[in-house]
Amino acid sequence: MDTDRLLRELTEFLRIPSVSTLPAHGADCRRAAEWVGKALERLGCRDVSFLGDDAHPVVWGVGPEVPGAPTLLIYGHYDVQPPDPLAEWTTPPFEPMVRDGRLYARGAADDKGQVFCLLKAIEATGHPSVNFRFLIEGEEEFGSAVLFGLLDREPERTRADAVLVADMAYVAPGWPAVYTTLRGLCYAEITVRTAKTDLHSGEFGGAAPNAHEELARLLGRLKTPDGTIHVPGLYAAVKRPSKAELATWKKLPFREADFLKRRVQAKALTGLKRYSVLERLWALPTFEIHGIMGGFSGAGAKTVIPAEATAKVSLRLVPNQKLKTVERQLAAAVKRLTPKYVTASVNFLHGADPAQVRLTHPAFKLLDQAFREVVGRGTVPARAGGSIPIVPALGKTGAPVMLTGIGLPDDRLHAPNEKLDLKQLWDGIEVFRRFYELLGRMKTK
Ligand code: BES
Ligand code: MN
Ligand code: MN
Repeated sequence: MDTDRLLRELTEFLRIPSVSTLPAHGADCRRAAEWVGKALERLGCRDVSFLGDDAHPVVWGVGPEVPGAPTLLIYGHYDVQPPDPLAEWTTPPFEPMVRDGRLYARGAADDKGQVFCLLKAIEATGHPSVNFRFLIEGEEEFGSAVLFGLLDREPERTRADAVLVADMAYVAPGWPAVYTTLRGLCYAEITVRTAKTDLHSGEFGGAAPNAHEELARLLGRLKTPDGTIHVPGLYAAVKRPSKAELATWKKLPFREADFLKRRVQAKALTGLKRYSVLERLWALPTFEIHGIMGGFSGAGAKTVIPAEATAKVSLRLVPNQKLKTVERQLAAAVKRLTPKYVTASVNFLHGADPAQVRLTHPAFKLLDQAFREVVGRGTVPARAGGSIPIVPALGKTGAPVMLTGIGLPDDRLHAPNEKLDLKQLWDGIEVFRRFYELLGRMKTK
């Protein structure tokens, strides 16, 4: 493997600041899409096209035809999350740098490095043994609206014998995984208004309502210190994992104390104490506050009673919750928990249904075999706490959606100093090269 050349090429991809959630980066997202388009053309793809949007297009491609061989749809995303807080990066997020065998850059693991891995594994096969289709999108981090639109209009684009998604991690170093569920997401802004305008806190303080105070109380009621989310009906659809599944989690290389000390690096874990940490992370809904705006938060002091305050919040959803239902439930809960003299509104920004896949299709055995041969251990079934909005739609035609990845749990996705271990990348190229080879021999119906 010419690792120097590969590293140069990946560096070029990672240098493009394709942040889909920031409008100012529209042109960068387009450049990242074009980088992907070129890479597909170099693999001999036909019909490479940029679909659905100019700034955040879905990149589509059709690999060289291999008569009689299965069709594999590869999904990934070229967009990334914003890099801030910038000051916490050891080297700048869009100037990829290798230190101690790790490649540091925004997108190194999520998901440019993994898209790169899947493409380079095709290059490594010499001549493709399966019929590849590609859907590489640019709005995964923003709810996948463009791709949802495309698949609504043209659902046949997902027709395949299997779908491969590498946008996750091993469960631990040396432990590759295949995921059976992803959580869904319901992202919203909750705004409370208490008066026509801001008021002097001396003239009015003591008798006028305060928007920040009302918002804080509302948020404090929505989730109490024991971790219970007080959204009526929220837990009704939650399906507990079977005893057998919970038992398999006990065998995973996961220790709650290590998770606290090395990964979370806080003083305690929180949440519903009667459930294991893995169940809290993988099989229960969450309610998180991402940011609170309003009032005065600049330097210095200002004595004001804010008239309006907004919180950005999200809930993670688990099987068998539905986004549409949870949106209704959250709006109703906010209404119920808000005093009469306060106006509250909920604005939904984006979301996703949870995803669930069964591992019965023979292609899962082949992926397991490829990992076993290359890294010495097969794939362990696990669940994921994160979300990939389009996954349920990718599986609509009945093809198995294979959720896996080459990252490690400490890759710091969405955070400063995101990285990808180069060993994971080189192994990954070999794993998927072998997987494609094995899949090429699989019988199709
Ligand atoms: N690759 C992640 C999803 C992920 C992370 C799955 C870790 C499993 C484990 C994906 O890029 C992501 O971050 N998705 C967003 C989706 C949202 C913005 C709609 C997420 O989960 O926050
Ligand atoms: Mn991702
Ligand atoms: Mn992400």
